[in-house]
Amino acid sequence: MSNWVESLIAAAFAALLFIAPAAAAPGASAEASTSAAARALAADAPAVPAESRRVGYYGYGHVPSPQAIAGWSIAVRPDGQGLPPGQGGVAHGADVYAQQCAACHGTFGEGEARYPKLAGNSKLTADRPVKTVGNYWPYATTLWDYIDRAMPFPSPHSLSVDDVYAITAYILNLNNIVPDNFIADHNSLPKVKMPNRHGFILRDPRPDTDDVACMSRCLSPQAVRIVSTAEGKGLTPRTTGPLDEMAPK
Ligand code: HEC
Repeated sequence: MSNWVESLIAAAFAALLFIAPAAAAPGASAEASTSAAARALAADAPAVPAESRRVGYYGYGHVPSPQAIAGWSIAVRPDGQGLPPGQGGVAHGADVYAQQCAACHGTFGEGEARYPKLAGNSKLTADRPVKTVGNYWPYATTLWDYIDRAMPFPSPHSLSVDDVYAITAYILNLNNIVPDNFIADHNSLPKVKMPNRHGFILRDPRPDTDDVACMSRCLSPQAVRIVSTAEGKGLTPRTTGPLDEMAPK
């Protein structure tokens, strides 16, 4: 029998045991046992500050405390705003990385099995480019943010601030972006020049995307004629769908 079937049966059995005493005691109504459970839950819930007990539109929930918001507000911006005090270097980063990350991403960022590569020699202009931190990511600060919020995959946001700095330094070093003696902190990371820093475009150069959206008194759809397409302009890869058949009318 597979493990999960066993645990399912065990869980069902435990639920039966839990219900049994209430059913056995003739005086105890179902309602009484429910409210006992509710009280048990309420005892676990954090105290709600008085000013947040206002009943909202839907009549439930409460205004989050500044501390609760601070717990979720961990975004680090490209210019480094949001980076906490702390620091870490390449050598310590290599140690923590070996324990926390290498199993999936490979000791040198080469990636185990299908897990993402974090370093390598692939060029974005190759026929089949492999995106890495070195050839793709525009900001070192974003690397810090991502590792802090999302890694290690099985237990995200569990690393100390200093360890995140150290691992960031190690991964940048694996990609030959910073020297062995680099110390990552809230001053140094925003200054790191990532190779693909200017590889992202804010404005789509295709002719039909750069226009002001019409919000009132717009052209009637019947009056619209396609006079040219992106086909043949070297902008869009050929598809095998209807786009290939699309021609100026
Ligand atoms: C159990 C496997 C596992 C472990 C351990 C792990 N990761 Fe990951 N990592 C992943 C997976 C899976 C993704 C892709 C997640 C996604 O795309 O949503 C990823 C993505 C990443 C990326 C983004 C790659 C890219 O270019 O898109 C970085 C950076 C990263 N991990 C760093 C780390 C670091 C640093 C650690 C250790 C603190 C770590 N990971 C531990 C599985 C793992």
